[in-house]
Amino acid sequence: MSTIRRPLIAGNWKMNGLKKDATKLASNLAKRMININKLKLDIVVCPPSPLLGLVENALKGSGVKIGSQDNSYAKSGAYTGDTSPLLLKNIGCSFAIVGHSERRTIHGEDDKIVKAKAESAIDAGMIAIVCVGETLKQRKAGRAILTNRKQLLGSLPKQATAKNTVIAYEPVWAIGTGEVATPAQTQEIHASIRAELVKAIGEKEAFKIRILYGGSMNPHNAKELISLPDVDGGLIGGASLMASDFWAITEAAI
Ligand code: PGA
Repeated sequence: MSTIRRPLIAGNWKMNGLKKDATKLASNLAKRMININKLKLDIVVCPPSPLLGLVENALKGSGVKIGSQDNSYAKSGAYTGDTSPLLLKNIGCSFAIVGHSERRTIHGEDDKIVKAKAESAIDAGMIAIVCVGETLKQRKAGRAILTNRKQLLGSLPKQATAKNTVIAYEPVWAIGTGEVATPAQTQEIHASIRAELVKAIGEKEAFKIRILYGGSMNPHNAKELISLPDVDGGLIGGASLMASDFWAITEAAI
């Protein structure tokens, strides 16, 4: 964690919860996070999209922002089942996760689609959280750095700056498995991502851009990971579904 970058803690609720669960979780978060505006960090939760309005309402006054888990690359039109980034922004989203490994794997989204989605999220006025990460097979084959480099360069929005883009490094083998990347593995990939960003968008922006770690982050390992020089926060799945755990992770970034 560096003092030049404002930490970001993002909760990815994935496809979990019904109305009553979301209201309870968001209200519990709001109670803990009263006045977070005074803290020098950003907090965002990304619930399932039909629950965005309800969650925003429950979070009112807390300073916690809402974000989407996916958006269409198109603005509007004949895209049955997709959600317009303009609409997501319109209903209150400040952040947009794109290219999560579950989208890449389950929905076959490639770098080109992820890049188009990130660009349209930014055009709509949201901050794109662009996810990259290697599989266990790629890591075992010694291709972790290379895989992340390829995904990063293929998915990076053309207008990327530190203000409109966040990168999330999420090793696929660490997502939802309880197996977290070691501090050495994490810092190595984060530093190599930043080095690639220097080449892609210039030193000034690359040093300001936030790079999150995601993959089994919890209250026990958060402090060690977030303290690493090139880690600027976390993208949290499972542990974001418990207000106490999510808050404990947030405290690790304060
Ligand atoms: P996890 O998920 O924290 O449950 O591993 C992280 C993510 O998928 O963003």
